[in-house]
Amino acid sequence: MTTSSTLEFQVTRNLAAKTDAQRDEILANPGFGQHFTDHMLDVCWSETGGWHRPRVQPYGPISLDPAASVLHYGQEIFEGIKAYRHADGSVHTFRPLENARRLQRSARRMALPELPEEIFVQSLRELIAVDGAWVPSGEDQSLYFRPFMFAKEAFLGVRPAKKVAYYLIASPAGAYFSGGVKPVKIWLSEDYARAGKGGTGAAKTGGNYASSLVAQAEASDNGCDQVVFLRDGNVEELGGMNVVFVMKDGTIVTPESDSILQGITRDSILQLAEDRGHTVERRDISLEEWREGVRSGEIVEVFACGTAAVLSPIGLLKGAGFEDEQPLGELATSLRQELTDIQYGRAEDKHGWLVRLDA
Ligand code: PLP
Ligand code: COI
Repeated sequence: MTTSSTLEFQVTRNLAAKTDAQRDEILANPGFGQHFTDHMLDVCWSETGGWHRPRVQPYGPISLDPAASVLHYGQEIFEGIKAYRHADGSVHTFRPLENARRLQRSARRMALPELPEEIFVQSLRELIAVDGAWVPSGEDQSLYFRPFMFAKEAFLGVRPAKKVAYYLIASPAGAYFSGGVKPVKIWLSEDYARAGKGGTGAAKTGGNYASSLVAQAEASDNGCDQVVFLRDGNVEELGGMNVVFVMKDGTIVTPESDSILQGITRDSILQLAEDRGHTVERRDISLEEWREGVRSGEIVEVFACGTAAVLSPIGLLKGAGFEDEQPLGELATSLRQELTDIQYGRAEDKHGWLVRLDA
């Protein structure tokens, strides 16, 4: 049924969908971002027609005019959100309105149209209606949704496009870091910045990730898994995750800045920590405070968190000319357990964070 705030999607089934056996083989070992479900969803937007032509169709290449402005000026935004299969077979997602609202904030920053929250959530349901069998049931597995929006109007002037597309694809996911949950090694990028005042750091837009790639390559060359960025000497975040520090007295500190991505995983973990009685401080934390805090024992744990990787303890901070072992503790692991217990339906969802997608 269509209400005034949802759309009537036209569904074209994929006649070349994977067989059950092919899908089971992929789900047995999905990796991250390597395989895609049988269908994709898209909705067009135009300045004159608003959101229109909602479709679910077979997953496949997108045809674009070579002058489509996303290809030239990068007017693009995206999200990352997962579906979890519970023991009774039902499929749930986690705080989708937060992702819907962040997509709207990213859209405002990148001069793209705002997708209504109800249509964002509906799009997840519509894809699950055709590809629900792709939600894996193995431990720590999920179906990772990638909603994205881009400028498709063909022109070469520099201005916001008047034709835009919203797409949703999905990819079965296991561990983001190969090797599962083990402490990650972080490279300190001092030559490259991710964001600055007035920039696009708080928006989830492709350019932020493009600009992180050389720093990420530097991290890999130095044997590290991820890169941490600074702004004016203060810790910002990793290429694809937020950073959290645990102090000796149990206080939790995380960077507050208008140029980092406001992570939903971080927000949820900090809420769970507050429920346990921890004090949470959102404030600047300098590289100096980090390094000195680890040396003095003031900082007792450091971890990174995000939808794709969930929560990983940071075991090493490495930079030009130094290597600081990071202290490992119990809190990161127990918060990760508490969060995933809620997501997978093994613990009570006290905050009402889950939204069922298959009913
Ligand atoms: N920071 C960056 C740059 C990210 O790409 C992500 C991942 O989405 C995060 C932080 C964590 O955000 P969330 O927990 O909402 O996935
Ligand atoms: C996520 O955690 O959802 C991300 O977007 C991080 C990365 C895969 C870009």
